[in-house]
Amino acid sequence: MSRLSYRKVILVDPALLRLIERVNERWLAAGYREAPFADICAEALVALEPFRTLDVRRVLAGLVEASPSLFRTARHTADEVIPLYGGPRFVVALHVWTDSIGRPHSHAWNGAYQILSGTSIQGDYTFEEARAIDPKLRIGALRARQVRALTPGDTVRVFRGDKTIHALSYVDRPGVSISIRGLETFGTLTYDYWGSGLCVETDLQDEYADIKIKAIEALWNIDGEGCFDAVKRGLLAADPRTGFTVLRRTMGHFRGTSRVNELVECLAEKMGIEVSFLSDALGDIERDGVLRRRREQVRKLDHRFLLSALHLATNREMVHDLLREQYPGSNPATVLRECIAEMAEQTVDGADSLLGMPLDAGVGTILCLLLDDGNLATLLARLEARNEFEDIQANKELLLSSARAIKEFSILRPLFA
Ligand SMILES: [Fe+2]
Repeated sequence: MSRLSYRKVILVDPALLRLIERVNERWLAAGYREAPFADICAEALVALEPFRTLDVRRVLAGLVEASPSLFRTARHTADEVIPLYGGPRFVVALHVWTDSIGRPHSHAWNGAYQILSGTSIQGDYTFEEARAIDPKLRIGALRARQVRALTPGDTVRVFRGDKTIHALSYVDRPGVSISIRGLETFGTLTYDYWGSGLCVETDLQDEYADIKIKAIEALWNIDGEGCFDAVKRGLLAADPRTGFTVLRRTMGHFRGTSRVNELVECLAEKMGIEVSFLSDALGDIERDGVLRRRREQVRKLDHRFLLSALHLATNREMVHDLLREQYPGSNPATVLRECIAEMAEQTVDGADSLLGMPLDAGVGTILCLLLDDGNLATLLARLEARNEFEDIQANKELLLSSARAIKEFSILRPLFA
């Protein structure tokens, strides 16, 4: 006989009930201790195979149609996470992702998740802390252990804190997964991690920073020049956490202006870190935003797969490994070149290509040649041999500056790392 109160289950789905019951009974038998919980969750997901047995359409329709009295009060701030069950010890949630992509992050919970449909590229990372500015803002080194493609049925355990740092990027629209997570956090914070080595608490933006950001946005629209001076004075007066949050959120206004470095230098001093470190960290955050916006425009699965790979991999070998796995029997370098060439020549808004670069056949040609060999002298020689550009020598400087810009283009970073 079940020990659970099914009134707390939003809808009565037999596969969901079996999952909840199995986890609860086994965890109760283990004394609700923390250590075995992730294994218990993973075991239940593997044994009961919700990727085969859970009817996601029925579950979602049931949620839509359920009367108010059946709803519990559980909430999740992410639009993609839909709580299905909330008991006294753990919750079960459905994750339905379309275009959004996850950056490296940790959790305050233990548990497990299973991919229900679609392919998801997952990066696994380690973080080695060098020092903490405070517990919510840490400096260290983030390293990718592996990047792999997860498919339906793949089950992943999650441990709270730095032990599990992962990033998920769903290729299909949508990609669906189910998670089981313990409610006890033991005081653990949740973090986002950036490749440059900055680790920031996910909920760092408090009301104080929130008001400043709103004020900056308003002032920017009224008095752009005065806004810059106010932000600089604000950074000088702020604590490091608020300063970082404010500049991170408003940086876009000042990027490209001659005085942007003044703001970065000002904040780096406040945070007690190198200017180059902070500049790289802000660059990471901007890159993430560029990839997110680009991804919303990309529909073809091959292109979405490549963008996910470029988002999470940290070098070209990792991208090749993913492509080798996704397209068995193909040469990953060839697949990469063909996919890049396609994306360099397509647009959805008539402006930039799907890679976010100027829509120019020359850009695609140069990019593909650089993928073969990144040496710029070799590039010029090959362009001359192909005779595709008139008078290579006369346009040498222009071609070289284009090639450098392409190699430094943020979306392509892992390919030329
Ligand atoms: Fe996660």
